[in-house]
Parts: sequence; structure tokens; C-alpha cells
Amino acid sequence: MENPIVLVVDDEPDVLKVISMRLKSAGFNVESVSSGKAALEAISRNIPHVVVLDIYMPEMTGYEVLQKLRQNSQTVSLPVIMLSAGFSQEEKIKAFDLGADDYIVKPYEEEEFIRRINALAKRSTCQICKPALKNILITGGAGFIGSHLSKSLIAKGYNVFVLDDFSTGRKENVESLEGNKNFQLIRGSVTDEAILSKYIEQCDLIYHLAATVGVKNVVDNPLDTVIYDTFGTGLVLKYASAKGMKVVLTSTSEVYGKSTVVPFSEDNDLIMGPPNINRWSYACSKLLDEFLAIDYHKQRGLPVVVVRLFNVVGPGQVGMYGMVMPRFFKSAFKGTPITIYGDGEQVRCFTYIDDVVEILMEFATSEKANGEIVNLGSNNEISIKNLALKIKEITKSSSKIVFEPYSSYYGSQFQDIRKRVPDISKLKRIIGKSPKLGMDDILVKMHEYFLSHPDELDNI
Ligand SMILES: NC(=O)c1ccc[n+]([C@@H]2O[C@H](COP(=O)([O-])OP(=O)(O)OC[C@H]3O[C@@H](n4cnc5c(N)ncnc54)[C@H](O)[C@@H]3O)[C@@H](O)[C@H]2O)c1
Repeated sequence: MENPIVLVVDDEPDVLKVISMRLKSAGFNVESVSSGKAALEAISRNIPHVVVLDIYMPEMTGYEVLQKLRQNSQTVSLPVIMLSAGFSQEEKIKAFDLGADDYIVKPYEEEEFIRRINALAKRSTCQICKPALKNILITGGAGFIGSHLSKSLIAKGYNVFVLDDFSTGRKENVESLEGNKNFQLIRGSVTDEAILSKYIEQCDLIYHLAATVGVKNVVDNPLDTVIYDTFGTGLVLKYASAKGMKVVLTSTSEVYGKSTVVPFSEDNDLIMGPPNINRWSYACSKLLDEFLAIDYHKQRGLPVVVVRLFNVVGPGQVGMYGMVMPRFFKSAFKGTPITIYGDGEQVRCFTYIDDVVEILMEFATSEKANGEIVNLGSNNEISIKNLALKIKEITKSSSKIVFEPYSSYYGSQFQDIRKRVPDISKLKRIIGKSPKLGMDDILVKMHEYFLSHPDELDNI
């Protein structure tokens, strides 16, 4: 066994120094941090063999750190030895109830301390076989959702590799990451096997977001949609499967098709339209991706989760491919007509990007999610007409609201979906979280964003 890694967490610099020195001289690799938050960040980058954790620290106590470690599938059995200046009976009980493996009282008897850590490190060899998540590949990472996800993962200390062909992605989305040592941008398509396999080989996890998206884009390019959204995903799953690497695959509420059974639950039947109506090329391709993913899980054991997203909105989203919210804000700010296609009674649930990113990150380490299809959306039901009215109100816009038939924008054979509302009980069961931001708060955030970034209105 290589020298075990011990993470020492204590807010008292002297104690930290003495323990670290003593452990180093006993042959351990030691990392030391002085707060609970820093401990969690260090562990998310690299799981040690043993954690020595002080109980009483400001901001986040050792108990809170321990609780978080036990809630995470990657650290649920990570050996933790609690440290304190004295342990009352209640403190000991609390530590063990939360999942501590051992405890030691300061000032400790050095020989005994080392022996205890050694014993825990020996039982901890499984951690070496299971390397911590470090390098993450995001296909479509220069797009709207992918770029927010990239930033959040980098902020948590991961190395992020973005593979994007910039078909709908934007340079501006990832500009702030360029030059960051934990970020690498690869211009290329997921259908390029040489590039894809090279980066899958270097990574520990893949978020597969690359796809031809946006209703207008899909209606205008049904062939690209089918080719890229199925062939590309097939390759991602093939190479990930060869390595046994986890995949988080983003699918869409569009797969529920013309179903009228709301809220949409993952086990519902799905009602697709015919191939001669272009918009269904997206839903059908994504559905085929779902079958591929689930079958790779069933037959090859691939750890993969399919996440069905429902109308995600936030800064950086553009409207030119048929995304409604940025388009309405642009018209409202510019004082031009806010155009609603159809009667405006169609209902959608909008989910704020920060909520989506937070939950997508949870999927990376959730073993319960493997082999599952899970809805990710909010319950913020709103008709498109009410959305237009609310945006007009919040921007104090003089824009008129006008109605146009779908055919004027999407062509004569367009079919729409009347009501899309997710059932998120499975999400809550598996991840224990659901999107937090309500509709009014989302609109306030979007309004503030456009006020502070007026140039963005011209990119929509
Ligand atoms: N935004 C939403 O409301 C929403 C809803 C449901 C599902 N989704 C899914 O989420 C994912 C991301 O969507 P988004 O809203 O960020 O869209 P986006 O268009 O901003 O991002 C998609 C990215 O994929 C890239 N891309 C497309 N084809 C590629 C290829 N062959 N190789 C490499 N890169 C390629 C694009 O350049 C773009 O950067 C997609 O899979 C989409 O189906 C999004």
C-alpha cells in the first residue's frame, strides 16, 4: 500500500502544525486545512484514506462536516476520527451516531494516535481503488447550460474539459474561463471519434449535453437533429461504457410529446408525432438516446443517469433558436411587439439555471440515480400569455402583445404541446432536492440581468 493520505482539519494553527508534522514523520501523506468548508472542498478533489476532524470549529463544525460526508455516496464509508479537547458522553454519542469511526482527546498520546490512524487507514484501502472525481468532460459545454455547469464545477475545484462544435454555443459563454488552469476548451464534434475517445480516456465523468436544440433550429434542421442527437450520443455511450465511466445525459420534457396526462411522470407512456412533422425529430432522437443509455446500463452495467430537463432559463440563453423568455425580454426592452405563437394558453414550467446546475452536480455522485430516468424541472406553471404580461409589467414596457399562428414562424405542419408540467417526486426521492426559485423570483433575476447587461439583448 502506498503511503496513506490523511486529511487533518483543525482551526487551531498550532494543533494543525503539530499533528501534521507527527503524521508526516510516521510516513503518512498529510494535507491540512483549517475549516469545515475547506475540508469538504479538499475531499471533493481527492478522497483521503482517513480524516482527522476537529469537532468545534467556527462556521461549520466537525459534526456538520461528518454529516455531509455520510450523505455522499463517495464518502459514506470514509474513515473519520474525531478530535476534541475533551469528550462528554453526549459528544461521543453524537459523533458515533453521525458515523464517526473513532475519537481522540487532545492532548493525545502520540503512539496511540498513530496506531489508531494506521488501523483506520488499513481498512480504508478501498478508497484507493475508487479514485475521487477530478476530470470532467462536458460535451456542449460552451452552450447555455453547459457553460454555467462548467463554471460551477471549476469553482468547486474540478478540472473541466469542454468539447463543443459551437453550432449554437457561444465564445462569450466560456470567455471568463479561458486561461484558467482547470479549464480546457476543445473545438470539435462529439461525432469525431478520435477527439471524443481521447478526452473520455482522460476523464472520470461525462456530462453529455451536446445536441441540436431549440424548437426553431430543430424545425429548420431535422436531419442534423437526428444525426447529431443520436449518432453523437451513441458514440459517447460506447466510449464511456468501454471505460465504465459515469455519464449524466440531458434529455428533455419534449419526449412526453403530445401526452395530456399531467404532471408528466417518468413511467408515463410517451406520445410522439409523425416523422413528416419536423419538430418530432428532436423528441424522437432524445428518446432514442434514452433507450440507448438505459440499455447500456441494463446490459453493460454503465453507470448512467438520464435527466429530463423542463424549460431552463437564465443568463446566457439566446432566443434565436426559439427560446421564449429571452425573446420576450428583448422585445419588452426594445419596445417592439412581444409575439406569441398560438393562442398563448400553452402552459410551461420554467426552471432557473442555478437550480438546474446544483442538481446536475448532485447526479454526478448519486449512485441511486444510475440506470434511472429523472425529471428535473420546477412546478412554476405559467401560460405563455401570462409570461408575456408579467415580462411587460416588470420591464414597464410599452410593447404590444401580438398573436401569430404557429405556421408563421414554424411552418405549416407545426404541432405544439399544450401543457408541460413535471412530476418531481422521483427527483426528490433520489437527490433529496428540487428547484427552489419561483416564477416571480426568476423574472426579477432575469430583469436585473438584462438591466446590468444591456448588450446581451443584441445577442438574442
Ligand atoms: N435549455 C433548456 O430549456 C433545455 C430543456 C430540455 C433539454 N435541454 C438539453 O440540455 C442540453 C443543453 O441545452 P442548452 O439549452 O444549453 O442548449 P445550447 O444550444 O446552448 O447548448 C448545446 C451545445 O451543444 C453544442 N453542440 C451541438 N452539437 C454538437 C456536436 N455535435 N458536438 C459538440 N458540440 C455540439 C452547441 O454548440 C452548444 O454549445 C441539450 O442536450 C438539450 O437537449 C435543454
